[in-house]
Amino acid sequence: MKLHIAVLPGDGIGPEITQQSVKVLKAVADRFDHDFYFKNAVVGAAAIDSVGDPLPEATLDLCKNSDAVLFGAIGHPKFDNNPDSKVRPEQGLLRLRKGLGLFANIRPVNTYEKLLDKSPLKRDRIAGADLIIYRELTGGIYFGDKSTAEDGKSATDTCTYSVEEIERIAHLAFKAAQQRRKKLTLVDKANVLETSRLWRKTVKEVARAYDDVELDFLFVDNAAMQMILNPTQFDVILTENMFGDIISDEASVIGGSIGLLASASVGEESAMFEPIHGSYPQATGKGIANPVASILSAAMLLDHFNLTKEAEVVRKAVEISIQMNVCTQDLNSDNHYSTAKVGDFLEGIISDPDNSNIN
Ligand code: IPM
Ligand code: MN
Repeated sequence: MKLHIAVLPGDGIGPEITQQSVKVLKAVADRFDHDFYFKNAVVGAAAIDSVGDPLPEATLDLCKNSDAVLFGAIGHPKFDNNPDSKVRPEQGLLRLRKGLGLFANIRPVNTYEKLLDKSPLKRDRIAGADLIIYRELTGGIYFGDKSTAEDGKSATDTCTYSVEEIERIAHLAFKAAQQRRKKLTLVDKANVLETSRLWRKTVKEVARAYDDVELDFLFVDNAAMQMILNPTQFDVILTENMFGDIISDEASVIGGSIGLLASASVGEESAMFEPIHGSYPQATGKGIANPVASILSAAMLLDHFNLTKEAEVVRKAVEISIQMNVCTQDLNSDNHYSTAKVGDFLEGIISDPDNSNIN
């Protein structure tokens, strides 16, 4: 298969981790005889520094003209504590999601037996947890009208959702549930918010076409508690943009490190693959960032193009690396490997067709 992949390393640890995914994808292409073409572009603080815009036109064009986008991370502390700054790195990511119409962000969360004791949660609570979050990505309070009063004494963010925006992601989430354990939980705040009541009503309607899927509802505050108390109860979680942002970071503690969590953002025409973690500025250039979230995002890219066997090989290689303790310091404090060494190890396993472990 021929695939044109736009690579947007972004800020902080973005470049180092993305380099490992490209390494892994090249190894997959070699082994399975595919042609993957990579083109890099700038985004985020890196783009503000070089051209004054967190999402330059050329970057958006490259993404639109590619089959898929591999995204690193975005954000730089020099912008975080400066609320007056008009240009912010995060705008690059938000405009990219909107510009490519990536309305569904898919975030799988699972556990590895070997890492159960790395989680701050008790082993027996999290063993077997296997859930997937469908987070709406181009609507809600992130994209509603915003303003700050001229006197600076009040500010407003509005949250709006349309039936159509809810329906299109709901269909994807129900289809996913049909392929999994057939349970879908809508997370909302329907006891308070109008938008949440619209979500409930619309999702109930959509559910009629999926009568093999059990649908239940949880208020987001309760869902946050349940995620810690009993994460194995969840199969597919469907939720709006901001609730999904928050509960997916919360869910990341289940696996033992946020450095393991991958995501796919999909729309009608484009698809982008990005770790859920941020740019981890303190670690930049130190070679300590875990590349696995990015590499598993690359596996989701392969799945997206129905390269199922290839994706499986990447996931299996990751499992082997965890099994053998070839991990960065977030998972292996005694004898850790660098970001690049983990990438090299995975590349080695994938490139070796005789490796009986993965056939
Ligand atoms: C994420 C991030 C982004 C978000 C930020 C960087 C804008 O936290 O992808 O979860 O809030 O969506
Ligand atoms: Mn987030």
